Amino acid sequence: MNDHRPLTSRTRSRAAEAAEDIGSNPSQRPGIGDVIAARMSRRDALRGALAMTAASALSPAAFAQTAAQTRESRFDFREIPAGVEAHHRVADGHSADVLIRWGDPVLPNAPAFDPLRQTAQAQRAQFGYNNDYLGYIPMQGAADPSAHGLLVVNHEYTNEELMFPGVGVQQGNAAFAKMTPELAAIEKAAHGGSVLEVRKTAGAWSIVAGSSFARRIDADTPMEITGPAAGHERLRTKADPSGRAVRGMINNCAGGVTPWGTWLSCEENFNGYFLGDAKGHPEEKQLKRYGAPAAQYAWGKYDARFDVAQEPQEPNRFGWVVEIDPFDPASTPRKRTALGRFKHEGAEGVVNRDGRYVVYMGDDERFDYVYKFVSARPIDRTNRAANMTLLDEGVLYVARYDADGTGTWLPLVHGEGALTPANGFRSQADVLIDARLAGDAVGATPMDRPEDVEANPRTGKVYVILTNNARRTAQQVDKANPRASNRFGHIIEISPEGGDHAATAFRWEVLVACGDPSNAAVGATFHPQTTQAGWFGMPDNLAVDPDGRVWIATDGNSQKATGRNDGLWALETEGPLRGLSRHFFSAPAGAEVCGPTFTPDGRTLFLAIQHPGEAEDDAPADQGTFENPASRWPDFQPAVPPRPAIVAITRKDAGKIGGAPIG
Ligand code: FEO
Ligand code: CA
Ligand code: CA
Ligand code: CA
Repeated sequence: MNDHRPLTSRTRSRAAEAAEDIGSNPSQRPGIGDVIAARMSRRDALRGALAMTAASALSPAAFAQTAAQTRESRFDFREIPAGVEAHHRVADGHSADVLIRWGDPVLPNAPAFDPLRQTAQAQRAQFGYNNDYLGYIPMQGAADPSAHGLLVVNHEYTNEELMFPGVGVQQGNAAFAKMTPELAAIEKAAHGGSVLEVRKTAGAWSIVAGSSFARRIDADTPMEITGPAAGHERLRTKADPSGRAVRGMINNCAGGVTPWGTWLSCEENFNGYFLGDAKGHPEEKQLKRYGAPAAQYAWGKYDARFDVAQEPQEPNRFGWVVEIDPFDPASTPRKRTALGRFKHEGAEGVVNRDGRYVVYMGDDERFDYVYKFVSARPIDRTNRAANMTLLDEGVLYVARYDADGTGTWLPLVHGEGALTPANGFRSQADVLIDARLAGDAVGATPMDRPEDVEANPRTGKVYVILTNNARRTAQQVDKANPRASNRFGHIIEISPEGGDHAATAFRWEVLVACGDPSNAAVGATFHPQTTQAGWFGMPDNLAVDPDGRVWIATDGNSQKATGRNDGLWALETEGPLRGLSRHFFSAPAGAEVCGPTFTPDGRTLFLAIQHPGEAEDDAPADQGTFENPASRWPDFQPAVPPRPAIVAITRKDAGKIGGAPIG
């Protein structure tokens, strides 16, 4: 989600909004006036989207010219216009077909979707809400690994105002008055993830009905806590005196797929699910650093573990990377504490040249950090079982970016540097549970909301997506976060020293500062041949296709903010066109684009379309609701609410997505 919280804030009081900001890095904390200004700019930014809800067709006159193909480009498609419309749109020559929607069956016993008669039991067997990360894992032994595989999907959060009739937004001033135990149970069942078996037949993708791999994971699924912090006293609760058994994963945003075929699903804004008060709590300092409890869901009214007054240590059991074996539906998902606890955006990794696995990760909060984990052991290509504990042992690092274009990965190892008992770190468990505080202590660089961080295995370069940070003041600008009031975000390119992903030294530069390049005040730095359709703001997820080409998905574009819906852009990173961006896919109104992932042959691209129909923060209370959504994508039936869904993009000539590389 764009504004980094699970729910729209349009009914909240300003006081509540300001209070919520307590979780940000205290060394960078803005004043309340800045907080309100930033939030209001979000509202302003979204206002425009409503204007397009009635429009079903794009008026060509409303859009700027698009890019012509050039010989230097590594892409070969005709750019689409940028604008706002209710439907999705993909570049000519491609098809974008809905594969599965919220409420569609996943498990064999799933009832048909009935938005007026939802139950938690039905939702536990149906596709969950707000699909974010997508990973495609070829089926073992498949004749064509790009035509048969498992699709793993995160279900990040729920919008009660869009899901349930007659409810509206329930957080903030609404005080969850219309929530019920059953609605909260449906929400919990709509969180988590799905494992889908998918197959391409005669060029068209479908879900394999009755698959033995099909799985729903939700906010109550039993999970194991592993790694250095497992069993620590700070992870113990009344229900789990072992500190090793937790139920559920929540707010799973982006993720990763490992070379051994597991799915890494990342818990992001877990703070929003807890009720209660940090003040006077035994871990008040830690809770505040993580912004908990933020009271964005009613669950704590009905389930004591989501009330910090009743179960004070439960928040320590969320905010982890969860590893799941999608080939074993009976397997227990494992929260890997060695990768640290923060608001995890994603966990894409790369096999280093010495065989160790390196996972790059962002902590999505204004003024928070970029991390990497380096496994202690190399991966074992011949023994899958040996890799199943690889992520329990290794070193977690946090990034410092220096003004001369160099940088250092700082180890978060107990006893080293400032990570001592005198500074509040009694053990490695404390370092990992309080990874943000450890990052503060070692002098990591506060960034403009780190989202996806991902290596290009072809080049060894690593891309860091920084989505935006309108709260950065002129005094807080640095070389790696070069714009005050950074509304449109930027992308940093890291070059590990000697091409070694385990090295602690790196060089870095800003690949592109986002926003409208025709407005000098914005300070955007796209390649000069980038058209008015080709630029974007608010980058979120990044994908590298099998030809090593980079694609950027966005979250937060709108009529008012950028004059365009969110979408997917192709970004040149090498050669004379470096920094040139082209518009490939446009999302429907109110939606963001998540989870771009390619099949190994580069001929299918899966996209997750999240929160279609969500309204402006300052829209009238009856808009962006079940009854009056900003869009009814993808069904466009009067009685059917908008439904988050997965789209499969293929090329009509069965060629590569975006065209075969020219260069
Ligand atoms: Fe869930 Fe960082 O976006
Ligand atoms: Ca997002
Ligand atoms: Ca994201
Ligand atoms: Ca990615």
